[in-house]
Parts: sequence; structure tokens; C-alpha cells
Amino acid sequence: MLKGKARAHTNIALIKYWGKEDEQLIIPNNSSLSLTLDAFYTETEIVFDKNFTEDIFYLDDQLQDEKATKKVSRFIDLFRQQANCSFFATIRSINHVPTAAGLASSASGLAALAGACNQALQLNLDQESLSRFARKGSGSACRSIYGGFVEWQKGHDDQSSKAVKIASDHFEDELAMIFIVLNDQKKEIASRDGMKRTVETSSFYPTWLTEAALDLAAMKEAIAQKDFIRLGEITEANALKMHATTLAAVPPFTYWSSESMRAMQVVRTIRANGLACYFTMDAGPNVKVLCQKAEVEQIKAKLAEHFALEQLIVAFSGPGIE
Ligand code: ADP
Ligand code: DP6
Ligand code: CO
Repeated sequence: MLKGKARAHTNIALIKYWGKEDEQLIIPNNSSLSLTLDAFYTETEIVFDKNFTEDIFYLDDQLQDEKATKKVSRFIDLFRQQANCSFFATIRSINHVPTAAGLASSASGLAALAGACNQALQLNLDQESLSRFARKGSGSACRSIYGGFVEWQKGHDDQSSKAVKIASDHFEDELAMIFIVLNDQKKEIASRDGMKRTVETSSFYPTWLTEAALDLAAMKEAIAQKDFIRLGEITEANALKMHATTLAAVPPFTYWSSESMRAMQVVRTIRANGLACYFTMDAGPNVKVLCQKAEVEQIKAKLAEHFALEQLIVAFSGPGIE
């Protein structure tokens, strides 16, 4: 019996990953940059045993169906191959984050699974290699191997496409992210399907790629200079550009709900009244508000004038895989 256990935190991209160059290996079309968060995470335990006759996957204590189990099995196959092991496995995973709601469960989920496999099969992969493995489960998962600010360098093949930690002299410790949870149910269009449709059909997509590269370079400068205003401006603008691409897809779609629009407007108003805060959104209707730790309580109080306290979750910079 071989056993491994890992915990990985979610990350939210400030420069979004949106679109794949290689769908099998998950090589992205653009590099991205994220902040790993302390409030949301996944804990996964895996046991390999020669007497098991199939892979079994429990998520939040629920036995998963064939489709969900197959997805996980294919990912674990990568580790079985590497370790030359043919044992089946039982996986138990707990998401301390809503699943498939645009709150980055695939990032923490697949990173935790990668970490658990690495330990169980005694592969002793270093963080960079682990990031490459996690990438093949879900692109955003490669960034959850590290804490704080992380860059996923798109690279051009399996070896070169990996996440690295960004030196930031603890700038991330001055930041906070307030999640406005508008809907924690499973989204209609998975990130994977949404970005695929966008790459294949959106006339705005080529522009996205040009802009994402410029935004990434500018954001790295803002981090080096610890310039929060610049960081926030780029974050918000980059998210808007990503979401614009979906409107030009065929057929068009959006992850925004009327509640998302309202939340974005509330953030703009709070900012106009003198508190520095900026929003970002992922493949789902929820809105995340980037601000400075020193002002987080004030901003949360302002948000609480429009949203229930249960909808507001404060997160700070979180650790890498444990
Ligand atoms: P999200 O916004 O939550 O990242 P995605 O559409 O990107 O949504 O990914 C959701 C998918 O990620 C799930 O349907 C499931 O396949 C996978 N996933 C989420 N959590 C886990 C986990 N703990 N273990 C394995 N796979 C997971
Ligand atoms: C909008 O990593 O969830 O959140 O690689 O297909 O599993 P797959 O998709 P995923 O996509 C995340 C998209 C995003 C932006 C980001 O996190 O960078
Ligand atoms: Co995801």
C-alpha cells in the first residue's frame, strides 16, 4: 500500500490564462500571473494498492461517477507511468472551496492531487516538475504549487511550460482579496470549454494575446515597484479584456450575471470615494476585489452595504503546496 496526502491552495489570476495552444499537454497561448490565496484550498489523500481492482474517487465524501473518475484516472496515469506502477488507487478529496463555480477549484484540486501522487509514489519531484505535472490536470493548477505571486511561463513544450515564483520582497503580504460570492453552484460552461470556443471562434482573440503580453510585462514592473494602484489597474483591465473575448465568440457567451455587473459597479463607486480597490472575474459570475490589507476592513464594510456578510470572504496571500 502506497499512501500520499497534500494540501494546495487556490490561486486567482491577475493576468488571466485564456486559451490553449496544445489541448493535450495544456500548453497555453499566453503566460499568466496569479496570487495564491489562504482562504480556499483542497486536501487530497491517495492510496495505491495492488489488490484494488479499479480507481475510486470521492469528492467531499461523495462517490464520483464514471466520467469524473475517468478524468482523475487519466491524470493519475501520468504519475503511474512515471513511477512504473500499475496499481489502482482510491482518492479522497475535500474542497474547501465551491467546486466548478469560478472560484478556482480546479487549481487547488489538481495541484493537491499531483502533490498526493508525488508523495505516494515516492517520485521526489521538485516544485518545477510538480508544476509541469499539475499543469496537465488543469492549467491554472500549475500556479498553485507556489505561494504568493506566481508566473506561469507559457513556454512551447511540456518541458518549458511551467510556473515559477515571482520575487516580490513580500509585497503580496500587503494585499488582500475579498470574494463576493454571488453564486456557488456549478457553472454552465466549464473553463475548458469556454476558452476552447473563444480560441476557435472569437475575432477578438488575437488582440487578447497581444494585450495579455503587454499587461504581464507592466504587471511585473508594478510588482517590482510595489505599486498597488498600477497592479490594481492592470488586474481589472486584463480581466475585462479576457471577458470581452467571449462576447465575440460564436455562439457568443458571457460568465457575467446581472449580479456580477452590479458588484463591479459597487467596486467602482467605492474606488471613486477614495478607497483603492479593483475587481477581477474568472470563468464564473463571482467577483473578486483586490485591495490592500490596511484597507480591507473598510472596503469590506462598504461592500456589506450591498451584499450579505456571508457572501463576503476575505483572503490573503497563501502558501504553496504542503
Ligand atoms: P473552477 O472555476 O472551480 O476551477 P473548472 O471548470 O475550471 O472550475 O474546473 C472544475 C473541475 O475541476 C471539476 O469539474 C473537476 O473535474 C475538477 N476538480 C475540482 N476539484 C477537484 C478535486 N478536489 N479533485 C479533482 N478534480 C477536481
Ligand atoms: C479564467 O485552469 O480552470 O480562471 O486548463 O482547462 O483546466 P483548464 O482550465 P482552468 O482555466 C482557468 C481560467 C481562468 C483564468 C486563470 O485562472 O488564469
Ligand atoms: Co478552473
